[in-house]
Amino acid sequence: MIVEKEPVAKTLPARYYTDPVVFSEELKRFYSEMWVCVGRTNHIPAAGDYFLREVAGESLIVVRDARDTIRTFFNVCRHRGTRICPVPEGKFAGHIQCGYHGWKYGLDGRLIGAPHMHESFCREEYPLHEVSTEVWDEHIFINMAQQSKPLLAQLADLPQKFSHWRMGELTPYHRISYDVKANWKLIVLNYNECLHCPVLHPALNAISDYRSGNNDQPNDSYIGGSMEFRSGAETMSMDGKLCGAYLPGLTGEERTMVYYYAIYPNLFLSLHPDYMMTHILFPRAVDRTEVICEWHFDPAEISKPDFKGDGAVRFWDETNRQDWSIVELSQAGIGSRAYTPGPYSRSENLLQAFDKMILGTPC
Ligand code: FES
Ligand SMILES: [Fe+2]
Repeated sequence: MIVEKEPVAKTLPARYYTDPVVFSEELKRFYSEMWVCVGRTNHIPAAGDYFLREVAGESLIVVRDARDTIRTFFNVCRHRGTRICPVPEGKFAGHIQCGYHGWKYGLDGRLIGAPHMHESFCREEYPLHEVSTEVWDEHIFINMAQQSKPLLAQLADLPQKFSHWRMGELTPYHRISYDVKANWKLIVLNYNECLHCPVLHPALNAISDYRSGNNDQPNDSYIGGSMEFRSGAETMSMDGKLCGAYLPGLTGEERTMVYYYAIYPNLFLSLHPDYMMTHILFPRAVDRTEVICEWHFDPAEISKPDFKGDGAVRFWDETNRQDWSIVELSQAGIGSRAYTPGPYSRSENLLQAFDKMILGTPC
């Protein structure tokens, strides 16, 4: 009997991970023309609070204005172009002032002071350049495209899908920033398969069986799915036990799973029965990515004396570091002249869908 050979999907050619020209095209397509997650609103709880983000090579100021609106501005003075704010985060005292000649901008970006300019100078013509900013469940998204579609159009059904976690009510407990020496897409690929879990993450595999995964049909906005806990385990933490109470809105079934979603282009949402973990990716070079990981809990639980959030932080920090070291080795191997695209297994279907999204072919 002749068995017909099944066509095999393969990984992308090396240039997608090593060529600076491909990298700058991706920054334009995915990081300048899509909605990109830059953080959470509770990072800047009061008027004047701000943080800087570098997105697609641009330094951006994300600030809460006097009317409680989250706004984003290019960090570029309208006088002679100087980067206005060099400090990564902090609080503006009611206005944003350039350190060169002292031009002053309101928290809403209006130019309110321009020393030495002539009398007929029209300040209204020189506000800070603003970037579209929208918020979903306290996740802040920005879009640098001249004309962007609404954030909701990019998020598809996610707002309804994750409403039970009430993400808007969660508060950050811990943040770690990682400098990963790998292309951003390798980090997305690694997040979306657990075939590596028994080899690389024995502690994770002891809590959640890598074969228990159940993936959603991939679409243009995200890829992801759920994994179940092994018997006796309740959440992802050092001892597998809850860090606090279950999140209040979850169904019985949702309490037995972790939901892992990569929301294009740069947000990973890992929804646990008792907390939310987020990763946001900021590509810095074709072979370097900054990853900011945060753990968010119900504030009522954090204030309890028996709260055990550190168990979740340690568990995932160790897992993250295992992941970063393996993607760095992937980057190193793909950079070799010996690398040729390799075959995907059927279980790596989310990875194939992501590659198709990168190539611009329908999933
Ligand atoms: S460049 Fe900013 S005030 Fe002159
Ligand atoms: Fe992993």
